[in-house]
Amino acid sequence: MAFDYQERIPNNVDLGSNPNLLRALEHWQPRFRDWWRELGPSDFFAGEVFLRTATSADAKGWASYGPVRLPEYRWGIFLAPPEEDRRIGFGDEFGAPVWQQVPGEHRASLRRLIVTQADTEPASVEQQRRLGHTCPSLYDLRNLFQVNVEEARHLWAMVYLLHAYFGRDGREEAEALLERHSGDRDSPRILSTFNEPIADWLSFFMFTYFTDRDGKYQLKCLAESAFDPLSRTTRFMLTEEGHHLFVGDSGIARIIRRTLAVMKEAGSDDPERVRGRGAIDLPTLQRYINFWFSSSLDLFGAEVSSNAASNFASGLKGRPDEARFADHRAVEGRLAIEKADGKGGIEIEEAPLRSAMNEVARRAYIKDCAQGVVRWNRLIEKAGADFPLRLPSPRFHRAIGLWAEAAADPEGKILPPEASAARQEEWLPTPEDRAFVKDLMHAVAEPGRMAGWIARPAYGVANLPLDYEYVRL
Ligand SMILES: [Fe+2]
Ligand SMILES: [Fe+2]
Repeated sequence: MAFDYQERIPNNVDLGSNPNLLRALEHWQPRFRDWWRELGPSDFFAGEVFLRTATSADAKGWASYGPVRLPEYRWGIFLAPPEEDRRIGFGDEFGAPVWQQVPGEHRASLRRLIVTQADTEPASVEQQRRLGHTCPSLYDLRNLFQVNVEEARHLWAMVYLLHAYFGRDGREEAEALLERHSGDRDSPRILSTFNEPIADWLSFFMFTYFTDRDGKYQLKCLAESAFDPLSRTTRFMLTEEGHHLFVGDSGIARIIRRTLAVMKEAGSDDPERVRGRGAIDLPTLQRYINFWFSSSLDLFGAEVSSNAASNFASGLKGRPDEARFADHRAVEGRLAIEKADGKGGIEIEEAPLRSAMNEVARRAYIKDCAQGVVRWNRLIEKAGADFPLRLPSPRFHRAIGLWAEAAADPEGKILPPEASAARQEEWLPTPEDRAFVKDLMHAVAEPGRMAGWIARPAYGVANLPLDYEYVRL
């Protein structure tokens, strides 16, 4: 299924045969462009960027690569091809045909789910808009812009659903998506992680590793939805998400490789000496991991949630990879969930499985996050260094759910609040850490050159050499 780029809004949903919808989206398009110009990476609009653009929804050969100016990127509306006779995969209506329209009784909940997902997409573009000025290489600059244009396309994907299936409410929500802004005091983005500034590239790689991975799991849950257009949209978004995760994973690995090389040159693992040579010491990396992992865990919501239960029951939002479970109704099961007992210990709550769906998704996410850490630790071990990185306990530094009130250390040990407050500087990035990382950030914009705090990637983009001019400024 090849996409038609001759149309004003490229799409594979036959927009041409729906003049009302086309008009509504054409009305929204200039507002989107204004937003991109004001809050996207607009300082780089004059340059040419070597970008991929989706050209079909097939698994093979879905993208084409070439130089594009950022204001001229062609955002489109692309859904994965329909599955013949697709059936609802979970919940009360398990086995019934999926919905092509929104059932009235689920309208409000479904709209809320779509708006919450949609809000994160432009938020990340806003968070990252100034990073280009301190890019560690043209290769990385290009990857940043690739992520940015695709997050903006994900906004299109969600706005299409709002316009096509939610009438006037949907149109109003689509407007509001361009009115809230990341970090805005009066009108912030919905979820707090998406209001955190991403002021340096270490945070960018952490965000694309941990926070985009939350996105992957949310999309996986929505890809199971009984509302077929949502499922098809999110399935195609997942193919783009893979690259964002690669950027984070390989970015952190390259930082570690550089740090290890500097430790070897210096003959020392003393953080001050590593910093003195212009690399990021491993303890600082660990503090950034602690921050971004715990912040991203909150995005899954409360461990026990009546919303999660009703979204599952009604078929709106499933579990990631629902097919791997045996019982798709989940009426009977229970999930053991830990919580603080208020006396410094832990007790177990046996929550009904449907109420624990956020926790099911979070646990799958944590497993996935751990895989990168294993790879990074292999690098560290191979270099003979003794500082394994780790994911902090899910009890650590939580703002949402059962652990929001309890103070736990990164090992998960519950501490009196004062004891925990006194040790925050050990565990989370300090103002000095942030200032140090910020000072390291200077644009390196000659083809093939890398900043001193990050190693070269193993490959270029799309089989091109690393010294290719990925961005022509
Ligand atoms: Fe996205
Ligand atoms: Fe993403």
